Amino acid sequence: MTTAPAQQTPLRVALLGGGVVGGSVARLLTSQADDLAQRIGRPLEIVGVAVRREGRDRSDLGLDPSVFTTDAEDLVTRADIVVEVIGGIEPARSLILRAMEHGASVVTANKALLAEDGPTLYEAAAEHGVDLYYEAAVAGAIPILRPIRDSLAGDSIRRVTGIVNGTTNFVLDAMDTTGAGFAETVERAQALGYAEADPTADVEGFDAAAKAAILSSLAFHSRVSSADVHREGITEVSARDIAAAQEMDCTVKLLAICERVVGADGREGISARVHPALIPLSHPLASVRGAYNAVFVEAEGAGDLMFYGQGAGGDPTASAVLGDLVAVARARVTGGRGPGESAYADLPVLPMGQAITRYHVSLDVADRSGVLASVATVFANHDVSIETVRQQVVTDDDGGSRAMLIIVTHAATDAALSATVNELAELDTVNEVTSVMRVEGN
Ligand code: NDP
Ligand code: HSE
Repeated sequence: MTTAPAQQTPLRVALLGGGVVGGSVARLLTSQADDLAQRIGRPLEIVGVAVRREGRDRSDLGLDPSVFTTDAEDLVTRADIVVEVIGGIEPARSLILRAMEHGASVVTANKALLAEDGPTLYEAAAEHGVDLYYEAAVAGAIPILRPIRDSLAGDSIRRVTGIVNGTTNFVLDAMDTTGAGFAETVERAQALGYAEADPTADVEGFDAAAKAAILSSLAFHSRVSSADVHREGITEVSARDIAAAQEMDCTVKLLAICERVVGADGREGISARVHPALIPLSHPLASVRGAYNAVFVEAEGAGDLMFYGQGAGGDPTASAVLGDLVAVARARVTGGRGPGESAYADLPVLPMGQAITRYHVSLDVADRSGVLASVATVFANHDVSIETVRQQVVTDDDGGSRAMLIIVTHAATDAALSATVNELAELDTVNEVTSVMRVEGN
């Protein structure tokens, strides 16, 4: 007679962190315990929850108070599976490495650590014969890492374009809807709880850059760290930029773009970058509103795929953590291991200057003959082809006139485009380069 899963010896789970994500993981682990045992073939038992602050009321997590500990170093030695949801680099890294040394598999949501030092964790997992899963690290609830790693393992991914930061998408969407400026909209996002009190990691693109590094590493079987990712945030995006985008039937999004490209030397490489960009309203990513996330994958065989959902929050993120936990636990039960690091392609990450992109440039210029020709000559000097030019004459209070020139280019290297803009800024006929934005999507 076979023993029912719930009667089997439990797999010991140590939870590092009992905050927003850890709290939801604990609650879901408890409320779904029977189902999880059936799906895994053995029950899971929370043997401890490591926290930083002692003596806090954590009764809402529904756990026996004796499981809470501030001794995470000890806890990781007493588990079969360690779930790290503390965040940051240390002590998360040391605790994960210690857990692996003691034979535990690890599930983590820690994008910052994976993007900074993923290979160290992968190497330790391989050395100790344990698993490392981290679906929640990119785009919260959205299943995107395992589809890239497993479902598309037989395909060849050309490009991954993501809206992977909910805070910035909320801010840009609100600017688009209300016409308000950046600072005012961030304050509103903070009041509504969408932006942190210190929003730097989000609005300066650090969070998205870490996710871009993780996506690039998986999609292109190479090692890409957050330091390799070109990063620009949304702090310089103005209400005027948003209005200019609307005039072109576009919207502005903070995009994480991971591409396989051919570099200046003719060899393949990776372009990994995070920056605000105009995308046409017809692009699937343009419809991603509020704090939602989405990842658009272009693959040789599969064609275009779009993954959409909640990129943050306790329960959505815990859903991804629990999916990993079940996968790791199943491997424990069957005695197998999930896939380890795949970095065989070893593609170099190319400098931003070699990225191929399009530009939307707004210029405030003198309204007199020859100005358009002088501007066009600068583009030609750098071999940047102009796709469209629009001109609007503005009459000043003193009766004089200026012209606003809005130029959209064809694709060119980022180096050529930025050299063009630098030279335009030096022209006598150009009063001001009022805005420069990249244009993505067809
Ligand atoms: P929180 O700040 O809400 O929780 C962190 C938890 O870790 C707290 O319980 C804290 O203890 C505990 N902790 C902090 N330092 C230590 C330490 N030195 N030793 C033991 N415990 C410690 O973070 P989140 O839950 O929001 O985030 C956790 C991870 O999940 C991060 O890597 C984050 O990037 C990732 N993530 C978060 C998402 C979200 O929506 N929040 C979405 C996707 C990923 P105490 O309770 O005592 O303060
Ligand atoms: N701060 C992040 C966001 C949370 O705004 O999307 C998920 O990493």
